[in-house]
Amino acid sequence: MTRKLAAGNWKMNGTGAALDELNAIAKAHSAPAVDILICPPATLLMQAAALTADKPLDIGAQDCHPQASGAHTGDISAPMIADAGGAAVIVGHSERRENHNENNDLVREKAQAAHDSGLTAVICIGETLAERESGDTLLIIEDQLSGSIPDGATPDNTVIAYEPVWAIGTGKVPSLDQIGEVHDFIRKNLTERFGDTAQGIRILYGGSVKPGNAAEIFAVPNVDGALVGGASLKEADFSPIINALEDEA
Ligand code: 13P
Repeated sequence: MTRKLAAGNWKMNGTGAALDELNAIAKAHSAPAVDILICPPATLLMQAAALTADKPLDIGAQDCHPQASGAHTGDISAPMIADAGGAAVIVGHSERRENHNENNDLVREKAQAAHDSGLTAVICIGETLAERESGDTLLIIEDQLSGSIPDGATPDNTVIAYEPVWAIGTGKVPSLDQIGEVHDFIRKNLTERFGDTAQGIRILYGGSVKPGNAAEIFAVPNVDGALVGGASLKEADFSPIINALEDEA
């Protein structure tokens, strides 16, 4: 079985001073029993990757353009992320789907670009509150899975992050049964499409994961780790989450 994964998404937070927290995280987990990934803003990618080059902690980006280069002001490409020392890139985060009108086709193209550059694509999916309340959660998840994941997905190049939009940054977390239902559904869907190899594709939960709720979430079957926002910014918050995941490993 692939190792579990504790991933941090720093979003649009952090200047050079935040590298102290990255250092502290690396120092506190010198021989982790799980994989650790931190995705700082693009401005810190190169420094973060250099700082952690000899540490068991990977650095990733938060988005990439589907093309390798060209006239796309403000965008960064997957080869650029790899060149900066990144090992992974988040694609299809709900904040990008919403703020930048990203649809499943575009997310799949971005994930493909990540694969083509040897990066792991962390592909985010998740329903809105309205979709959950109207009973459409699994339909939305099915649609996002079939539309956002490239055919060449493997346990090495793809991680799925289930992030209910209504749980992100809100302090609201689905019940453990609700998390389990969606994670089981994702595993079944991946297995139908990719066969037994899908057992190794990690499925992360994301949305208001904190030190206080991490252990119970990690005990849910088919939860292979977390994609953590706010609580990944400080070593004091992220370390207990990593420790809780190690307890399940
Ligand atoms: P929070 O952990 O801050 O709710 O954010 C989750 C998230 O969006 C991670 O990608």
